Order: sequence, then structure tokens, then C-alpha cells
Amino acid sequence: MTRSTRKPYIAGNWKMNLDRARSLDLIKTVKGRLGDGGDREVAFFVPSIYLADVSAVAQGSPLGVGGQNCWFEANGAFTGELAARMLREVGADRVLVGHSERRHVFHEPDEWMGRKLRAALDSDLLPIYCIGETLDERKGNKTERVLKRQLESGFEKIRAEDAHRLTIAYEPVWAIGTGETATIEQVGQAHRSIRKWLVQRLGEDAANLMRILYGGSVKPDNAKELMAIDSVDGLLVGGASLQAETFLPIIEYDR
Ligand code: 13P
Repeated sequence: MTRSTRKPYIAGNWKMNLDRARSLDLIKTVKGRLGDGGDREVAFFVPSIYLADVSAVAQGSPLGVGGQNCWFEANGAFTGELAARMLREVGADRVLVGHSERRHVFHEPDEWMGRKLRAALDSDLLPIYCIGETLDERKGNKTERVLKRQLESGFEKIRAEDAHRLTIAYEPVWAIGTGETATIEQVGQAHRSIRKWLVQRLGEDAANLMRILYGGSVKPDNAKELMAIDSVDGLLVGGASLQAETFLPIIEYDR
């Protein structure tokens, strides 16, 4: 499988934004526009408290609905946390793991990532594993090393047969919410090094099933050029996914 046969994946991460009514409106609008979806996969990662309502509205459409984080134990004394199976139970079919804000604002360590990805897969969720370097790490020429370290921790419990259910998102921390997008060259280079690692780790056939998304200040006016990069299989969109006017043109980047 190559870029041309992997289905483009356009995902919106609402983070801690919108409210219940605006969430449902946005889902209705995007659902109405998507039709049968067909040639691309579209999903929203929503605040967990809205998951049940949002997934009820999305029902019957190809729109995917996911949580933004999960814990790796199935139950227990973990106040404030949500098990992957709980997200599944209220209608999520996917989840983000290792988002930059989880790592840098909430100090989630690399050691948790492998267990989180395993728990998500075992609960029948499709994870997007987010990785990316900080500005200091890029300036210190450590980008490749950091990506490799994050991949190694995340893939601790991943086998080749999991590959078709797992997606990677490369989100350079310095490009998230800053309006500063990584250059075509920077994105291409990072994605190529991620794919090379995946091939080494899982073998070519399994690695080629996996999509690698780019995230960080994706907007309607740069979506087409980012999707034109040979190694980019999709986009993970923050701010521009909060309104139909900005998200629909990103979904329809090639029209
Ligand atoms: P922005 O698109 O707002 O930069 O956010 C990117 C992101 O973190 C998506 O997960």
C-alpha cells in the first residue's frame, strides 16, 4: 500500500473548546456535507463529556468520533481518568494518545504511551498516536532522536497485525496553535523518518498500511499544499476544526 492507496484522513481535535449546542450543530453540518464519505476518512476528537451526544448525532454517517485521551487501566482508583472501554461504551470509535498538550501541559511521560496504545486497541478503539519535537529540540538538531524515542515508547506493545488500526500524527510542538506551519521540507523529512522507523519496526507490508498525518496550524489556505507532500496521508486540525467554514474547505482540500 502506498500514499495513493491509503485513504486520506482528515481529523479535527476540538481540545477544550465549544459547548454542547455548538458541538452538535457542527457535527450536523459536517455530517450533512459528507454524504457517504467514500474517498476520505473524517473524524472529530471531542471533549469526553459530549461523546455520547455527539456520537448519537454522527450515527448513520461515516464520521468518526473519538476521545482526546484515555487511561490504560480498565478500572480502579484513578480519580478523574477515563478507561478506553468507557470511551467505547459511549460511542467513541477512536482516541488520541500522546497529544502534545498531554505531554507538555500535563507532563505525561513516554512510559505511559505504549500501555495507552495497547489499552485503546484492546478496547476496540482506533488510536492516533501523536508525536513531535519542541522548538528547543528542533534547534538542537534533536528532532529525529525525539521522534524515534516517542515511537519506541509508543510501540512497546504493538505488533505488525495492529498496524492497520493505528495512525501516527506528526505535530511539531512549535507549530501547534502558533500560526506557524512547518515547511514542506520539514514535514517531508519528519514523515520520511517516521515511515522508515515503522518499516524497520513492523516490516514493509504492515508499515505501509499506516497513515502518517501532519498537525500544527493547518488552515484552509495551506491544507492543499500540505496534502500534496508525498509522505502526508492526512491532517490533524485544531483551531480550524471548530467551525464548519474553516473545517469543510480542509476536508475538501482537493476540490
Ligand atoms: P492547531 O491546528 O490549532 O495548531 O492545533 C493542532 C493540534 O494540536 C491538533 O491536535
